Amino acid sequence: MEKTMEISNDVLEKISCVEYRTDPNIRTIRSYSLRAQKLGTEQIKALNEHVDEYVVFFENKFIDLNFIFGNDNKVIVEVGFGNGERLLDAALNFPDYNFLGIEVYINGFSRLLYEISERKLKNIKIMRFDAKDVLKYMIKNDCLYGIEIFFPDPWPKKRHKKKRLVNEDFINIISEKLVEYGYFRMVTDSEEYALSVKKILDLDKSFSDLNLLVLLNDNKKFTNVKQIINHTLVTKYNLKAKAENRVINSIIRLKI
Ligand SMILES: C[S@@+](CC[C@H](N)C(=O)[O-])C[C@H]1O[C@@H](n2cnc3c(N)ncnc32)[C@H](O)[C@@H]1O
Repeated sequence: MEKTMEISNDVLEKISCVEYRTDPNIRTIRSYSLRAQKLGTEQIKALNEHVDEYVVFFENKFIDLNFIFGNDNKVIVEVGFGNGERLLDAALNFPDYNFLGIEVYINGFSRLLYEISERKLKNIKIMRFDAKDVLKYMIKNDCLYGIEIFFPDPWPKKRHKKKRLVNEDFINIISEKLVEYGYFRMVTDSEEYALSVKKILDLDKSFSDLNLLVLLNDNKKFTNVKQIINHTLVTKYNLKAKAENRVINSIIRLKI
């Protein structure tokens, strides 16, 4: 009988930890619950063969993005990329940008790893770790051109709201990490979540509405941001929300 393919121990060790604790006794509230589903042969093969090529591993140390990508192109981070459809599409359509995707869900992570290794893409790297820890501990201030998050888990029950990823603490972190005129974009079908995030951003003096800036400044300056955000958004949750006729809320702010 054919032997079932397994993930090598070396790879498992590199990607199995998903959160960082400054104090091992303090449990931080996390925005995700880990679901493990069976991985397909292609996903396991991609993990065994391509992790070192495309995956950045967590360490409590700032990373050199120019070194990691081998150039100084602008870097856009996608947080919680799910199955990675959008990240793959963006990397293919915007080859002059670098994309760093962060996701804890092993199935989506390994699926995207398979897709990028098949295409041998050079402008995309992925991480399996809590995105908040990655941004906080590994990304230097003032260095990201964009931070995007599509359909973050809405945690609709009142007792779960504290698990939401995009809150004041998260907004403070992203405001530190973005370059001047770098953009933050969040898309969600939870109106209540969108309103709570807008409220935080409206009070934060480090962000401005993109449309307002375009009106006030030279339109050309923001062409690149507009091109990226106007590009068709392909994600599983976006398709699902559209199929179910739910209202989709899009928040775009620029760091000023
Ligand atoms: C509702 S899904 C949306 C997936 C995808 N963006 C889409 O639109 O189809 C939210 C994703 O965020 C991931 N996630 C939640 N919290 C995270 C965190 N702190 N760091 C990295 N990924 C996270 C989850 O694992 C899940 O795959």
